[in-house]
Amino acid sequence: MVAHALTRSPAWIALAEHRAALEGTPLRALFADDPDRAGRFTLRLGDMRLDYAKNRITDRTLALLMDLARAQDLEGWRDRMFAGARINTTEDRAVLHTALRNRSDRPVRVDGHDVMPEVRAVLDRMAGFAARVRGGAWTGRTGRPITDIVNIGIGGSDLGPAMATLALTPWHHPRLTAHFVSNVDGTHIAEVLKRVDPETTLFIVASKTFTTQETLTNAYSARDWFLGSGAAEDDIARHFVAVSTNEAEVRKFGIDPDNMFGFWDWVGGRYSLWSAIGLPLMLMIGPDAFAEFLAGGHAMDEHFRTAPLERNMPVLLGMLGVWYVNFWGASAHAVLPYDQYLARFPAYLQQLDMESNGKGVDRDGNPVDYDTGPVIFGEPGTNGQHAFYQLIHQGTRLIPCDFIATAETLNPIGRHHPILLSNALAQTEALMRGRTAEEARAELAAEGRSGADLESLLPHKLFPGNRPTNTILLKRLDPHALGMLIALYEHKVFVQGIVWNINSFDQWGVELGKQLAKAILPELEGGPARPHDASTAGLIAAIREARG
Ligand code: F6P
Repeated sequence: MVAHALTRSPAWIALAEHRAALEGTPLRALFADDPDRAGRFTLRLGDMRLDYAKNRITDRTLALLMDLARAQDLEGWRDRMFAGARINTTEDRAVLHTALRNRSDRPVRVDGHDVMPEVRAVLDRMAGFAARVRGGAWTGRTGRPITDIVNIGIGGSDLGPAMATLALTPWHHPRLTAHFVSNVDGTHIAEVLKRVDPETTLFIVASKTFTTQETLTNAYSARDWFLGSGAAEDDIARHFVAVSTNEAEVRKFGIDPDNMFGFWDWVGGRYSLWSAIGLPLMLMIGPDAFAEFLAGGHAMDEHFRTAPLERNMPVLLGMLGVWYVNFWGASAHAVLPYDQYLARFPAYLQQLDMESNGKGVDRDGNPVDYDTGPVIFGEPGTNGQHAFYQLIHQGTRLIPCDFIATAETLNPIGRHHPILLSNALAQTEALMRGRTAEEARAELAAEGRSGADLESLLPHKLFPGNRPTNTILLKRLDPHALGMLIALYEHKVFVQGIVWNINSFDQWGVELGKQLAKAILPELEGGPARPHDASTAGLIAAIREARG
C-alpha cells in the first residue's frame, strides 16, 4: 500500500491529536461550558437553517478541519469544477450540473464553448412540451389528454426524478399521475401497467447512455404492451419520448429525435435531475415551479462558490463527515427526514453519496490508506424511531445523523406537525445528552423500583449520549427549498471527495456485475454451462432445474 501524503500531512496529524484531546469531553459538557455554542454553530441561508452545534466540535476543531480543506485545495477544485475543467479524469469529462441551474448571465464554458445557450434551449423545449401535455393540447392516439406519465429509467435516471416528484406532490397537476419503473424485475412494470390506460399514458424512456439493460428491457416491454393494445407503430410518437445523450440509440429504439430531450456528457447520471432527466418532475409541477427548483439549486451553488469555508454549509457538512469517518471511525451516516414527502430522499442520497465516494483508490490510482464514503441510510421520521434508532442510541457504533425538518407543514391536520417536530427535536436532544446513571436511577426509583431489581435494570436504561447530529430546518418544503437541499448534499459529497483525493464522478464499480450478468443470462435461458465457482454453478443449476 502506498503511504499517503494525506494521512502524513500536518493538517491530518493535527486533527488526530485534537481528536485525542477531545475524547474525554462529551457534548453535554461542551454545551454546559459554552452558552453561545448554538448561536455560533448555526448557519442560515434564505429559509434554510443548519444547526451543527450538536457535533463533537469546538472552534479549534472547525479551524483544523478548514486547514485540512485548504491543504487539499478545496477552493481550487471547487473553482475548477464551476469553470468547466475536466475534473472527472477517468472519463475525461467536465462536471457541470451547476450549469443546468445557472440562473445568472454568466457563461459556462467547456473547452471554450459556452454551454448555456444549449442548456436554455433544452429547458425551453421541455417547458413547451410540458405546457402542451398539462394543458391537454398534447393528446394520446385517440385524442384524449394524457393522464399518466410512466418514467422508465434506473439509477440517476430514476432516483432523482422519483424522489423530487414525490417531494413536490402538492404542486402536481390534478389530471396527472406519475409512475416510476426502474427494476428489471417484470413485476415492477407489470404492476404499473395494470394501473394505466394505453390511450392516455405517456412513457418517458430516460437513460443517459440508452444502453442500460434494465431500462431498455422495460422500455421494450412497455412498447409491446402499447402496441398490443391496438395502437400502430405511428402512434408511438404520441406516447413515447426519450431523455438521453445518445441520439443514435434513441432512433434505434424507434423514438423520433423530435421527441427526444438531450443532455450532455458533463452531466453525471446521479447529478442529472436538473437536466432533461427532470422532465417527469416538470410535467407534474409545471415549468414555473421547476424554474423555482432550479433557482433553489443555484442559490446553494452561489453560497458554496462564494461563502468563506468557515460559513459554508456544504463545506461544514462535508468536513464534519470527514471528522467522523476518519478520526472517530464512523462507517455509516443516517439521513432522517421528518417530512413524509422526503420519503425517498435517503434512497436518492445513497446513490449520490455512495456511487460518488465509494472509492478505494485515489485520483492517481493508488489504494487509499484511510476510509472514504460511509454507508448512507435513513427513513422518514418517525418510522425510523421504531426501527433502527435503538442502535444509534445504545449500540456500539457511532452513527452521525442529519435530521431534516420543516417548520411549516403543507398538511396542517390537528396536532400532527407539532408532534412530528417534537419527536425530531427530542431525538437530537436525547442523542446529544444521553441519560446518566444518576438520572436513570432517579427515574427507576420514581417508578417504585429499588434494590437489586433497580440495579439489574440500570445498565439497560443508560444512554451514553454524545451522539452527533446536524439539524437542517426548512421553512417549508417547496420547489426552491428542495433545490437548495439537493444541491447542499451534492456539494457536501464533492467536498469529501476532494479531501479524500478521489474521483467522485466515475462509477467503475458497477461494471463487473453488469458484465457477469450478461455472461450468466444465456446459461439461465438454456445455453451451455460456463465455468464458474462451485457456489455460482450450483445456483445456476438449481434455477435451471426449477425452471424446467
Ligand atoms: O449504476 C450505474 C449507472 O451508470 C448510474 O451512474 C446511472 O445513473 C445509471 O447507471 C443509469 O444509467 P443510464 O442513465 O445511462 O441508463
